[in-house]
Amino acid sequence: MNKIRKVRFHSFGDRGVLQEERIEQSQPDAGQVLVAVRTASVNPVDYKIRSGKYPAVQQDRLPYTPGRDVSGVVERCGAQANKFKVGDEVFGIVPVYGGGYAEQAVLDERALAAKPAGIDHVHAAAIPLAAQTAWQGLFRHGGLKHGQTVLIHGGSGGVGHFAIQFAKVFGARVLTTVSTDNVAFAQSLGADVVIDYKKQRFEAHASELDVVFDLIDGDTRERSWQLLKKGGILVSTLTEPAQDKARSFGVHATRYTVEADGAELAEIARLVGAGKVKPHIQRTFPLQAAADAMTSVEQGHSVGKVVLTVG
Ligand SMILES: NC(=O)c1ccc[n+]([C@@H]2O[C@H](COP(=O)([O-])OP(=O)(O)OC[C@H]3O[C@@H](n4cnc5c(N)ncnc54)[C@H](OP(=O)(O)O)[C@@H]3O)[C@@H](O)[C@H]2O)c1
Repeated sequence: MNKIRKVRFHSFGDRGVLQEERIEQSQPDAGQVLVAVRTASVNPVDYKIRSGKYPAVQQDRLPYTPGRDVSGVVERCGAQANKFKVGDEVFGIVPVYGGGYAEQAVLDERALAAKPAGIDHVHAAAIPLAAQTAWQGLFRHGGLKHGQTVLIHGGSGGVGHFAIQFAKVFGARVLTTVSTDNVAFAQSLGADVVIDYKKQRFEAHASELDVVFDLIDGDTRERSWQLLKKGGILVSTLTEPAQDKARSFGVHATRYTVEADGAELAEIARLVGAGKVKPHIQRTFPLQAAADAMTSVEQGHSVGKVVLTVG
């Protein structure tokens, strides 16, 4: 059996635990697809898992190959996977048990969509996890509608830069918090009000919000409750919001984990293909520099996405 290059770790720890190895590729189960990975994106969850701080990945899952989304070419289909055929260009979310930082990855067929027309694999890999997190946070959990107002905390990062664009495409009014260097970037994405959190108190610029999309947590969240209108909602990708706090402000609050959904990804692909939403690539790294790529994201100041080039 062919051996492929994978970056993985055998124990939790800092960037030093990552190593490149040549190992046999696992084969797709009935409903899965083996993808020849061209590019894989780097997400904060990758370093959280590597450091052992992500509850869904425990010791029994080691050795672990990071990488929660990829873009590539279908190499083999499982016995009951019939949506795609060998040679199709696809992209999607890799299961939480990992595998993207490798020459091949196994994905559930239902997590995949055809790569958007007119963009390369680098831009395609930037989309699945971050964009679906943004989409699900705004629409599935936040119920954001045309004409409503949303405050997006962390608008310059992987999730935030998609969230600004989606909210605008669907006719919402968008306020966002970013650091000084990223004000122009957030404006270029279409945000109506860009608040420089290094220089301004966001409370002075926001009120009567329908949705707060919180990608930051902590003090930022605590200062946001009062800005929601009665019946509004705070949606978090991080810790569980306190329900008693939400009740005391007469608002709702929820925390969610992104789910792979190929049909939803296909809808996002149409927006990207039509040029209405654009993934922003901060930087690419080759697979062998995966530790550097992860460190870059771990520093916490990403502008858009960091992507690994693989094949
Ligand atoms: N629950 C889920 O399923 C799920 C899915 C995806 C992501 N997440 C989590 O959601 C968070 C965001 O993900 P991401 O991929 O967008 O992360 P990211 O790409 O690392 O972006 C984080 C952004 O936040 C900005 N930032 C830092 N402090 C800020 C502050 N006080 N106010 C406003 N912006 C601030 C950073 O830029 P500056 O430092 O320059 O401001 C950076 O652009 C991460 O913690 C991630 O683990 C959860």
